[in-house]
Amino acid sequence: MSTRGHTQQELVELAQRYLYPNYRQPPLVMSRGKGCEIWDEGGKRYLDLTAGIAVNALGHAHPAVVDAITRQVGLLSHVSNYFYTEPNILLAEKLCQVTHMDRAFFCNSGTEAIEASLKLARRHFFSLGQPDRHRIIAFNRSFHGRTMGSLAATGQAGYRDGFGPLGPVTHVDYGDSTAVAAAMGPDVAAILVEPVQGEGGVIPAPAGFVKALREIADNHGALLIADEIQTGIGRTGKMLAFEHFGVQADVVALAKGLGGGFPIGAMVCKASLENALPAGSHGTTFGGNPLASATALCVLEQIEALRLLEAVRQRGEYLGGKLDELKKKHPSTVNQCRGLGLLQALELNAKVEIREVIGALRDAGLLLTAAGGTALRFSPALVIHESEIDEACSILDAVLGGVS
Ligand SMILES: Cc1ncc(COP(=O)(O)O)c(C=O)c1O
Repeated sequence: MSTRGHTQQELVELAQRYLYPNYRQPPLVMSRGKGCEIWDEGGKRYLDLTAGIAVNALGHAHPAVVDAITRQVGLLSHVSNYFYTEPNILLAEKLCQVTHMDRAFFCNSGTEAIEASLKLARRHFFSLGQPDRHRIIAFNRSFHGRTMGSLAATGQAGYRDGFGPLGPVTHVDYGDSTAVAAAMGPDVAAILVEPVQGEGGVIPAPAGFVKALREIADNHGALLIADEIQTGIGRTGKMLAFEHFGVQADVVALAKGLGGGFPIGAMVCKASLENALPAGSHGTTFGGNPLASATALCVLEQIEALRLLEAVRQRGEYLGGKLDELKKKHPSTVNQCRGLGLLQALELNAKVEIREVIGALRDAGLLLTAAGGTALRFSPALVIHESEIDEACSILDAVLGGVS
């Protein structure tokens, strides 16, 4: 029975009757979680290596997050951006410090962080007297969100089809810096890139690529925007994945892990861009409200206090090693393993029906998501233990054994 007295089956029927059918949920209802474990309304336990698609950085129901939210909701949850609040000011300071950026704008989701970044890029050149500089360079297989601007930048037909016409974006192959250089022109405002393509299949940028993008952007006076919505906030073992490549972007879009499960997004940028969006030119009612800000501040503080960047590097290596063993053990099912830190993937043979594998894993008590159509994605909480990785890999071993 749920806390409101429903059976799981009753809730599924209500969901199928009333929720807009734009998702494809299995017929079960999640009820509570703790760390990397989650239980459905029927009482079944799952090991959760999705973390809500790379969101629950500290796992489910982390006591520090519970405490931060409980304290703040009893004080002030929302006032709008007509006023400053202490949690938001302190979050801006902390986020700028840990990302080595100068200014922070807060919103409520990843797609909004991308919208803010794209608007900032255009408005920057407008204020420099170059209003025709509006084109964006983005990448095939990229994912940047589903609002019209971020969708225009998304380089996957499955998300774009039926929503055109979409804004002026040139998509080139990920990793091909020669193609980027060829696509540049005086009308390009920015290059937008994920340091690891997440939804595209967990594809890390090849060596030298991000550095080359920095050089190309600089040579053309264009901005470099990092989409770190999936990779940022420690997911790859650095606060920003761009740090692996020794490159700083001009603008960084963040969301997902920042709120540890509470919705918040952010666009952080360099001081040179602080006048691009003057008062009134961009905003949001909810963005950076004290409740979301207190939660995100708690997440950033806990990442430091628990030394999670080091932990992610260590656990990421451990997970990568185990996935490599699975690849060797199931060569006809698994083509490749790849990733960075705690964002990893097992690329399955294209003939394998990935949804069936994910369903079989779920039945066996392991939650994973798909990415790029053929990859099993691992994006667990940053606090995952080695024993949980072991448990997940033994479930995977059994399920993959049934496929091959
Ligand atoms: C790299 C990247 N950018 C943007 C987004 C969009 O974020 P949201 O779903 O919060 O709008 C996502 C979400 O998966 C993402 O992975």
